[in-house]
Amino acid sequence: MYIEELQLRNYRNYQGLEATFENKVNVILGENAQGKTNVMESIYVLAMAKSHRTSNDKDLIRWDEEYAKIEGRIKKTTDLCLCSLSFRKKARRLKSIISNSGS
Ligand SMILES: Nc1ncnc2c1ncn2[C@@H]1O[C@H](COP(=O)(O)OP(=O)(O)O)[C@@H](O)[C@H]1O
Ligand SMILES: [Mg+2]
Repeated sequence: MYIEELQLRNYRNYQGLEATFENKVNVILGENAQGKTNVMESIYVLAMAKSHRTSNDKDLIRWDEEYAKIEGRIKKTTDLCLCSLSFRKKARRLKSIISNSGS
């Protein structure tokens, strides 16, 4: 099982990010504070519905924005799972949608 595609909207320092990954070793390169750990964290959050770095979901929302969204295409052999997680500053809980779209 691996994440084929990741999309971020207003997540941490990302206004928008679209990244694709291979079912192999993937290397994330960047300068200090460029957002490498934020990408890894977003994948963790998508999988676990919580962060390993903060207990406050609002920290995940880009400063001065009202919401953040993480979307991922998860591939397991021929199964494709579309996962979406969104946070609103005003909402108490995060909203997650997981759909299985087959192959
Ligand atoms: N909620 C947020 N809104 C905007 N920027 C953020 C937010 N949370 C963290 N950052 C920024 O993300 C950057 C750190 O990203 P990080 O993924 O830790 O970098 P690195 O590439 O060194 O792993 C810092 O510049 C920090 O100010
Ligand atoms: Mg880091």
